[in-house]
Amino acid sequence: MIVYLNGQFLPLEDAKISVLDRGFIYGDGVYELVPVYHRQPFRMPQHLARLQHSLDGIRLANPHTAAEWAALIGELVARQPFAHQGVYLQVTRGVAKRDHAFPQDVAQTVFMMSNPLATPSAEQVASGVAVVTAEDNRWRRCDLKTISLVGNVLMRQLAADAGAVETVMFRDGFLTEASASNVLVVIGGRIVAPPKDNLILPGITYDAALEFARDAGLALEVRPVPRAEALAADEMWLSSSTKEVVAVTTVDGRPFAGGAPGPVFRKMHALFQQKKPQPS
Ligand SMILES: Cc1ncc(COP(=O)(O)O)c(C=O)c1O
Repeated sequence: MIVYLNGQFLPLEDAKISVLDRGFIYGDGVYELVPVYHRQPFRMPQHLARLQHSLDGIRLANPHTAAEWAALIGELVARQPFAHQGVYLQVTRGVAKRDHAFPQDVAQTVFMMSNPLATPSAEQVASGVAVVTAEDNRWRRCDLKTISLVGNVLMRQLAADAGAVETVMFRDGFLTEASASNVLVVIGGRIVAPPKDNLILPGITYDAALEFARDAGLALEVRPVPRAEALAADEMWLSSSTKEVVAVTTVDGRPFAGGAPGPVFRKMHALFQQKKPQPS
């Protein structure tokens, strides 16, 4: 597998960084995951804009212009033997003697790899997936896509321990998101999405879903969602660059929303399949 590290494309086994990298020592960096269908990135400008937001949030200069990123991503995609990819890119504050304060004049570490895009199985689309729920105990800058993911890792493990795919979180009685996905619900035929504030990642797939819904004339509303309303909703969906949209049909071990994906989900899933990049 060919990856990219600090200006070079090279085999994964040859990509090496220092143990003093601040990504390793502090989790001091940010990342993105850009889905690629038929070798065409989906919503790359939006992912690069969010990367800039994350970098600004941790006060780290962007090592590349959008055009440079696009060229690097294009080259990485071209070097993989598979057509549907998840391009992972990460920027850290570089290598320096361990000290919390920012180092001066240190180059960022830039790493990229691309894996086969693992979209939901036909079975998951048809039957939905299981989630567990938990109180959101992460920090209050969940809008930044930082590599410091131990809070999300612990949340995801709760789901893994229960044989579920995700952990849906609530903070102070309101729905936030899941460990690596956004969460949308459908109430009385209307899609209801929590606002993109500092408590959730501004999902590119969340935005795509709301845009597709608006264009198709589906009713939607962006507002805080109380826990009781979320857990009594007619439908619940997860959205992410790898999951696209998938319906939740089991919550905390009990059937949810009749135990089958609902009609609004089926519409949204069909819209998503139409709108994502097609073979060129
Ligand atoms: C915590 C979290 N929320 C939401 C998402 C969904 O974001 P996107 O649709 O941009 O992939 C992700 C993506 O990995 C995530 O890690």
